[in-house]
Amino acid sequence: MKWIRIRSATTDDLDAIMALEESCFTLPWRREDLEIDIRENILSAYFVAETSGQVCGYAGMWMVCGECHIMTIAVAPGHRQAGIGAMLFMKLMDEARLRGANRYFLEVRMSNAPAIAMYEKFGFRRIDVRRAYYDDNGEDALIMCRDDTPV
Ligand SMILES: CC(C)(COP(=O)(O)OP(=O)(O)OC[C@H]1O[C@@H](n2cnc3c(N)ncnc32)[C@H](O)[C@@H]1OP(=O)(O)O)[C@@H](O)C(=O)NCCC(=O)NCCS
Repeated sequence: MKWIRIRSATTDDLDAIMALEESCFTLPWRREDLEIDIRENILSAYFVAETSGQVCGYAGMWMVCGECHIMTIAVAPGHRQAGIGAMLFMKLMDEARLRGANRYFLEVRMSNAPAIAMYEKFGFRRIDVRRAYYDDNGEDALIMCRDDTPV
């Protein structure tokens, strides 16, 4: 396995992140929105995965009312199934935990079996469905949650 470095994203990574968005999603985020999140949104945290100096994955989250909302995660097609997604996901959750989160939420396309498998591996449960959530094909979104609230 290649050496992978996970680090905070900067606006210098935007070209690489947009390339990931285009290659990984049918509804890519707008560059302007990502730029605001990375540059000035104090509630967000974005990380990139690098190998041989090249960005091969990225992930981001928002803290909302003390809860972590996983906003995005993507690994370049040629680098998948090598543990990079899991590394990015753990980094997001660690950062959220440091910021006081003990509940984590995300939305994922119903058909996205690899992502759902990863989230379930990290203890996320299926809690609800948003019907016809995605504009491109009307697909439903699965809402998943991990709740570490002390009982
Ligand atoms: C989801 C994604 C980020 C996973 O990244 P990855 O680097 O391939 O994931 P990893 O190699 O770290 O695998 C972590 C876990 O994910 C699951 N997984 C990953 N790829 C899988 C596949 N093709 N089929 C089934 N499970 C898969 C497994 O549970 C795996 O754990 P394991 O290796 O112990 O079995 C990647 O597939 C991706 O970028 N997809 C396109 C973008 C996307 O859909 N993002 C999620 C939006 S909600």
